[in-house]
Amino acid sequence: MARLGYDGLNADADLQRWRDGRLNQVTRELIAIIQRLGIEGARVLDIGAGVGAVHVGLLEAGAASAVDVDASREFLATARAEADRRGLNGRVEYRYGDVVELAGELPAADIVTLDAVICCYPYLELLLAAATRSRPRLVGISYPRDVWWMRLFMRLYNLVQVLRRSPARYFIHRHAQLERWMTGAGYRNAHEGGIPVWRVVLYRRSAGAS
Ligand SMILES: C[S@@+](CC[C@H](N)C(=O)[O-])C[C@H]1O[C@@H](n2cnc3c(N)ncnc32)[C@H](O)[C@@H]1O
Repeated sequence: MARLGYDGLNADADLQRWRDGRLNQVTRELIAIIQRLGIEGARVLDIGAGVGAVHVGLLEAGAASAVDVDASREFLATARAEADRRGLNGRVEYRYGDVVELAGELPAADIVTLDAVICCYPYLELLLAAATRSRPRLVGISYPRDVWWMRLFMRLYNLVQVLRRSPARYFIHRHAQLERWMTGAGYRNAHEGGIPVWRVVLYRRSAGAS
């Protein structure tokens, strides 16, 4: 597994924020735009789900089932406990590991989400290939904007992690690379949004794409 530095140590704080109704704006936007395009009966693959807010939100709004793949056991345990508490047990499958390595074993999905995940992973194209392997109808992604001040922030953040001997690293992938890859895979941009430092994008599979 590629070294992933997000160990879920802030899972309790993330969960508390969600329960208190303080889910971050980007996550709320991602859930809302997917919901708007129709999720009734959909199978969701939530990659790097953290405490599970995206797939739980979609299940509570009508999606049929979800698979939560996360490289953090702590996040997976927290997500499972919260989904159970909300009566969703049996509708979510939990898989521990790197989705790039697990992709071939995962069930097909109609909707795939990557909320604040591509910024934790060095290999953008491998991640996108894993996400789109079963040709989902929608792929929702949030990630830091590809702008100079975010690149500067990323360098400073990574430097601090090196000094602290932490494996956590931040990656700001090129917007154009993401767009090119998704277009080449048969997707078109169905929503463009976010906040000044963070982009939210929804890709929809083009009719007739192979
Ligand atoms: C910054 S957290 C975001 C969690 C949640 N989506 C949110 O927005 O609150 C990134 C998550 O992605 C997971 N992750 C990163 N790359 C991954 C990969 N290749 N396969 C599976 N999980 C991955 C990490 O383990 C972590 O749980």
